[in-house]
Amino acid sequence: MDKLIEKIKKNGLSGEITIPPDKSISHRSLIFGFLTNSKIKIKNLSVCEDCISTLKILKQLGAKYEFISKNDLILDSSDVLKEGEFVFDCGNSGTTTRLLSGFFARSNYQATLKGDKSLSKRPMKRIIEPLRLMGADIESNENKLPLKIKGKKLNAITYNSPIASAQVKSCLLLAGLGIDDETVIYEPSLSRNHSEIMLEYLGADIKTGKNEKGYFTKIKKSPLISKDIEISGDISSAAFFMVGAAIVPDSLILIKNVGINPTRTGILDVFNQAGVDYKLLNKRKISNEEVCDISVKYTKNIKPFEIKGDMVPRLIDEIPILALLATQAQGKTIVCDAQDLRNKESDRIKTITEAFKKADVEIKENIDGFEIQGKKEINKELNLETFLDHRLAMTYFVLSLINKKETKIKGFDCVNTSFPEFLNLFNLLI
Ligand code: S3P
Repeated sequence: MDKLIEKIKKNGLSGEITIPPDKSISHRSLIFGFLTNSKIKIKNLSVCEDCISTLKILKQLGAKYEFISKNDLILDSSDVLKEGEFVFDCGNSGTTTRLLSGFFARSNYQATLKGDKSLSKRPMKRIIEPLRLMGADIESNENKLPLKIKGKKLNAITYNSPIASAQVKSCLLLAGLGIDDETVIYEPSLSRNHSEIMLEYLGADIKTGKNEKGYFTKIKKSPLISKDIEISGDISSAAFFMVGAAIVPDSLILIKNVGINPTRTGILDVFNQAGVDYKLLNKRKISNEEVCDISVKYTKNIKPFEIKGDMVPRLIDEIPILALLATQAQGKTIVCDAQDLRNKESDRIKTITEAFKKADVEIKENIDGFEIQGKKEINKELNLETFLDHRLAMTYFVLSLINKKETKIKGFDCVNTSFPEFLNLFNLLI
């Protein structure tokens, strides 16, 4: 579906929404829930296409499930297949592919993992390499999908990951969870730690910390205990509303149930730099993850900001929408150390630069990011392409709210991969 947005915002965004469940935590609740080999309830599960890809794979492995409401699921993995040969479709989901590869590598299954056009272009060397060091049997198409994994007994390793990637870390944790000796993973900056939090919640033998070599996570073989899991709202989804409210004049919104795990709150650091008017209210914990409600108000004088270093993994998925915030700041914003953006659902450095140039935004592409000179109003008839990248689709939608002219978004349907409720929730605020 292409989306044509003709309406120009007149009165700002206003009202209250509850943000849908976190995608990363949802994948983990399904995978770790499956590994409890029991019947558990998962409360507030994301039903976006990516998470359904994970759920369907678990079903192929013999898990049974029942949705007792739109987002509440009973997952029963008490009697699943112990071996077999399977072909799995991971759809658009890098998280499904990379996390499950770690489990399959040390299982009794033979798994072939396939995906859509966008996923099939994405690099898998980052997981193949360390899994092979553990002794895994993996074939690939030049380090891309399809992956053919013949599960076998693996050896524990200490791995110094060259990149801060939660997908790589979680893949190796899922492998290490089945190995007697201790697997140790070092990463240069701390990537999202939802796997660590959930594994600890489910009783795994896991330790985390920091030393001179970097951030470490250590895991040993351990059974997971049967426990219900509740999932907090997704700050990466909330980001589109947060930035929308900050840049559309006269806006004031309240977003409820947003996860604020510190490994995900780089956007709040950016808001602090940019001087965006926001408040965190009603802080609490859900299944060991921090949560709150966030109010955001239109901010007239947005300041430029810098995104670099350790901050990058803490807002990696928010960079497209934060680039839009930068267009509304008075001065030059710099995003650097973010080369891995080129390996997401699209090459986001390139796709954002090209789209923003079409909108006459002053943007300069660099190898590891871009520079944006804000504040020129967007006043251009636009026809933007999403390249199967949901976060581009949603960024362009928010852009359309400040574009004085018509915006056409080609392939808008891909929002469903992460956020099927996106348009309905925006309509509540418009
Ligand atoms: C994710 C980790 C991030 C993120 C992705 C989801 C996860 O990827 O971009 O959308 O759930 O672990 P990397 O860890 O590869 O940076």
